[in-house]
Amino acid sequence: MYIIGGTTSEKIAKDLCKDLEASLVKTTSKRFPDDELYIRILDDISKKHVVIIQTTYPDQKIIELFLLQDAVKEAGAKKITVVIPYLGYARQDKKFKDGEPVSAKAIAKLISLNADKVITVDPHKEYILDFFTIPAFSCSAVPEIAKYLKRKKIDMILAPDKGALDRAKKASTIIKCDFDYMEKTRIDGETIEIKPKKLDAENKNVAIIDDIISTGGTMAKSIQHLKKNGAKKVIVSCTHGLFAGDAIKKLKSAGAIEIISTDTIQGPYSKVKISPQITPFFNNY
Ligand code: R5P
Repeated sequence: MYIIGGTTSEKIAKDLCKDLEASLVKTTSKRFPDDELYIRILDDISKKHVVIIQTTYPDQKIIELFLLQDAVKEAGAKKITVVIPYLGYARQDKKFKDGEPVSAKAIAKLISLNADKVITVDPHKEYILDFFTIPAFSCSAVPEIAKYLKRKKIDMILAPDKGALDRAKKASTIIKCDFDYMEKTRIDGETIEIKPKKLDAENKNVAIIDDIISTGGTMAKSIQHLKKNGAKKVIVSCTHGLFAGDAIKKLKSAGAIEIISTDTIQGPYSKVKISPQITPFFNNY
């Protein structure tokens, strides 16, 4: 099996090559004067099963994925599997208002054109997998995040909304601690409201877990609520750390003592590796 790491996911590609004893494909890339991307595959991958790993965020990285897929197809690969650690555009998974696109479906259909199989991590909603026109699978980062949190002496895991409840439950089983959830209403992209609720957080070390941290608004409100309920220390954790704008500042000033994300999006808070959850998909190769 041959693995190509797009520029968003070079580390994951190396981790997978090591775990699966696969070959890392050499590629080269440059920008044309008008900033268009040029890529080239340097190894012979004809008749091989090729795995491309690329997060589809930010927008430019989607183009890079499309070009890699086309290059692999043109080079005569036998089978193409695309691993998308973070599937961007997944939150627009339906038409909320007339005239809007279903962005998640639009991206999924295009990725499906030059691939035989897709694997992604904690998609915003599982039904997004049905938007791909090829077999699509997901895995979860929760076991890896929970293993990391276990070392932090956590008393309680909190889901910031009902959508994250299953994640919190799963993590609490691994950590062997309590869990609870809050009820969130999203007003717009930057504003949320959290329904007041009594949390049994007095003097506890609490970790909040979510799939995405974007503006940090959800987490910041949750931290404030926990603090009001007497929490001692609050850690925030997520699979996909987008940390848009001043999200980090917001989290720190709300009182987060640690910020944790996985490497589905590479950054200074990517403390948890996702590769152990991806390798089992390829164990039979
Ligand atoms: C929403 O349903 C997601 O699970 C996250 O809670 C949300 O995307 C976080 O966004 P933000 O950090 O901007 O509040």
